Amino acid sequence: MHNEKFSKPPAGGIILGIETSCDETGVALLRWEPDAPGRGLLAHTLYSQIKLHADYGGVVPELASRDHVRKLLPLIRQALAEAGLGVQDLGGVAYTAGPGLVGALLVGASAGRALAWALGVPAVGVHHMEGHLLAPLLEDDPPEPPFVALLVSGGHSMLVEVGAIGEYVILGDTLDDAAGEAFDKTAKMMGLPYPGGPMLAQLAEQGRSGVFHFVRPMTNRPGLDFSFSGLKTQVLLAWQQSDQSEQTRADIALAFEEAIVDTLIIKCRRALQATGAQRLVIAGGVGANRRLRGELAAAGAKDGFRVYFPRLDFCTDNGAMIALAGAIRLASGQYQDASVEVHPRWDLQTLPAA
Ligand code: KG4
Ligand code: ZN
Repeated sequence: MHNEKFSKPPAGGIILGIETSCDETGVALLRWEPDAPGRGLLAHTLYSQIKLHADYGGVVPELASRDHVRKLLPLIRQALAEAGLGVQDLGGVAYTAGPGLVGALLVGASAGRALAWALGVPAVGVHHMEGHLLAPLLEDDPPEPPFVALLVSGGHSMLVEVGAIGEYVILGDTLDDAAGEAFDKTAKMMGLPYPGGPMLAQLAEQGRSGVFHFVRPMTNRPGLDFSFSGLKTQVLLAWQQSDQSEQTRADIALAFEEAIVDTLIIKCRRALQATGAQRLVIAGGVGANRRLRGELAAAGAKDGFRVYFPRLDFCTDNGAMIALAGAIRLASGQYQDASVEVHPRWDLQTLPAA
């Protein structure tokens, strides 16, 4: 991180956000408004590669990189056109620098860096999970630290204590599958196409409660870590031994969803108790799950904590959260030099304060 060459983008400066860590190309333009970050969102565009990877049952990294190459510049042009702006209006660039697929990350990082270099503006590499974690700040009445964040995506299930922006302590992590991964793998086992998470959740709406019951993994002992692979195996056995009818698939989907949601809520309550925090932020793709949102809001109303969710579009990967996290870091004078560097694995706890 350097602090000498560029001045900080002033309030009102426009930041381009680029997300290419996995299978969505996301671009956003954010006018930096420190007091109400969401109000400055000028445009956001997203291209999902789901169809491209569906035939393979999962993300094929090389195909993902090539598709980001094809889609990124048209999306940037589209976002600029939507906002009625030109590249010369940009005051800074933020791109996801990790964690994620190395090739996919390099596409966003190279394009972002090149653009910033050509325009003579600063560019900053954003931690993808910090992006998710800060996404609720794009909404009205945003949460103020300190808070606890539950980050549940395709690659991560984490409880994080947020003392301030950049001050992160991981309270619990997944020992095996992430929550979204467990959704996707379970869906795949029952014959649903990739990515099965949202589809499994939809199917669960037709399920009958109480027909199946699965474990709430690692809730009967202290600690805040997660493990979902045993639950996945339990579901597989139940499915294999069942009549495999449509109704059974929906019943199993519901019991699985209930098990995951219950487990996440038990751990959130524990994390809030352990830290004394009264605000809980939910982020990441699984944060789009309706049952999780509904039950957490109810738990908050009962226990007296407040729950903050990003809108559904900003739970899953998007450029707006990267523009926001980048704007905050650029505003505190942080940016990288001209070398293109990405971190396919990157510990959230090593970030500097913003
Ligand atoms: O945050 P995200 O878009 O990408 C990663 O950074 O991983 O999260 C994607 C994950 C996928 O595993 C997807 O199945 C899951 O979020 N997901 C859901 C729902 N919507 C997305 N899982 C359960 N219920 C949903 N409604
Ligand atoms: Zn993500």
